[in-house]
Amino acid sequence: MADTCEMMETDSPQPGTSKSTEVSKKTSNLPWIEKYRPQTFEEIMGNEETTTRLSIFAKKGNVPNIIIAGPPGVGKTTTILCLAKILLGSAFKEAVLELNASNDRGIDVVRNKIKMFAQQKVTLPPGRHKIIILDEVDSMTEGAQQALRRTMEIYSNTTRFALACNYSEKIIEPIQSRCAILRYTKLSDAQVLARVIQICQKENVNYTEDGLEAIVFTAQGDMRQALNNLQSTHNGFDIVKSENVFKVCDEPHPMLIKEMLKSCSVGDIRKAYKVMEHFWNLGYAAEDIIKNIFKVCKNLDIEEPLKLAFIKEIGITHKRIVEGLTTLVQMSGLLSRLCIASSGVEIS
Ligand SMILES: Nc1ncnc2c1ncn2[C@@H]1O[C@H](COP(=O)(O)OP(=O)(O)OP(=O)(O)O)[C@@H](O)[C@H]1O
Ligand SMILES: [Mg+2]
Repeated sequence: MADTCEMMETDSPQPGTSKSTEVSKKTSNLPWIEKYRPQTFEEIMGNEETTTRLSIFAKKGNVPNIIIAGPPGVGKTTTILCLAKILLGSAFKEAVLELNASNDRGIDVVRNKIKMFAQQKVTLPPGRHKIIILDEVDSMTEGAQQALRRTMEIYSNTTRFALACNYSEKIIEPIQSRCAILRYTKLSDAQVLARVIQICQKENVNYTEDGLEAIVFTAQGDMRQALNNLQSTHNGFDIVKSENVFKVCDEPHPMLIKEMLKSCSVGDIRKAYKVMEHFWNLGYAAEDIIKNIFKVCKNLDIEEPLKLAFIKEIGITHKRIVEGLTTLVQMSGLLSRLCIASSGVEIS
């Protein structure tokens, strides 16, 4: 955490150093994801059940060891930092050890650094413990995780562990059994949108409704991605509108994909192929195209059975692409299979 704190302090825009606030806003290097990292549980969007549980723990103290697992950019690190701040207040600096994937966390670190911190004496109010934050713990080697098992038990009188990871299955069973596991899900579009609007208002961002829709679409439930895309579009253009967002994110435009899928749903392969060829000529990677086709297809207004057939074909093509078949022929093959699916002919 020390890193984050220092960064937030030193990077804060200095009042009065720029000619106008407008200029300072546009040129400020502070990423909005840090500037607007929630400081309290109330500010964290989504996953309310877990955050409410944790805020009760935070008030009462005596928190168990916890693992927060979930997809990227949904507030796992933020939640752990909030919890530690509320629990330890001014003692945060001396009573928290934060290690993330950018630190070396091999067996030696577990044996030396973590043990030494756990042994240190810090005076804390009753019911409060020192906290060791292990972020992105799924990237720790199994050996290092094994070395952690005993440490977690020996120092349980004085120290608590807060772990965050994307994949809980990469954490060895014995550690899972020593912790309460809390699962975070992707944020809903409405939750991402609500936060994005708040930040647009605070930063005086000039936006259109379709611009924010595009931000939400490109983020797919990842708040970090949403805020980064918003800031990049705001920095690069006068206005946050869908066209600009897709330019910044360098993604195939979903409106065109929608048109392409609609053409397939009425069996018009020529029209659909034109769009695909257009994407291809713009140089988009097959994987980016297929991912976006899937995102658009999920919300396409076509009959449910047809949508399922489409998703199956998209999945098959995605698999082929991942295996290395990244050609325009493959992509065109997908379109033809989608056209066949919409004509009701069984594909063998
Ligand atoms: N639920 C949320 N509510 C509000 N802001 C959020 C939320 N989740 C993420 N953010 C924003 O995104 C930034 C990154 O979030 P955070 O570091 O907590 O993600 P994470 O879940 O730990 O992701 P990763 O798995 O990649 O480590 C935060 O600083 C904050 O600005
Ligand atoms: Mg994190």
